[in-house]
Amino acid sequence: MKVCRRETFNSAHRLFREDWSDKKNLEVFGKCSHPNFHGHNYALEVWVDGEIDPETGFVIDLKILKHIILDHVIERFDHRNLNLDCPEFKGINPTTENIARVIWNILRENLDSKFGIEVQLSETEKNKVLYNGN
Ligand code: NI
Repeated sequence: MKVCRRETFNSAHRLFREDWSDKKNLEVFGKCSHPNFHGHNYALEVWVDGEIDPETGFVIDLKILKHIILDHVIERFDHRNLNLDCPEFKGINPTTENIARVIWNILRENLDSKFGIEVQLSETEKNKVLYNGN
């Protein structure tokens, strides 16, 4: 059984490689490579996979999951510049893929190992990624 909590956050980023020219960065990363950063409204879905607890009827209390996400993910990244403010992205391009992987690792440290975790992250209405640790 899987249950899900959805949260949103707003962050600025820039996708680029220092060892590439501005022209190549623009070719590969498009508008996301503009030097002065820009923001996205990210939508995060955290899916937790486990057994239904016979005592509560819950896989996980979604209030608890909400607070874990707010305290450890949203607090860290909301209204921040991922490149400049967040050491988690030092030397890592803050693509949707890499943000999802960073978030998954944070949640893995903060959730009981009996649970499976999947992170779905949308950068726009049209683009999203899914990461389950593999
Ligand atoms: Ni972007």
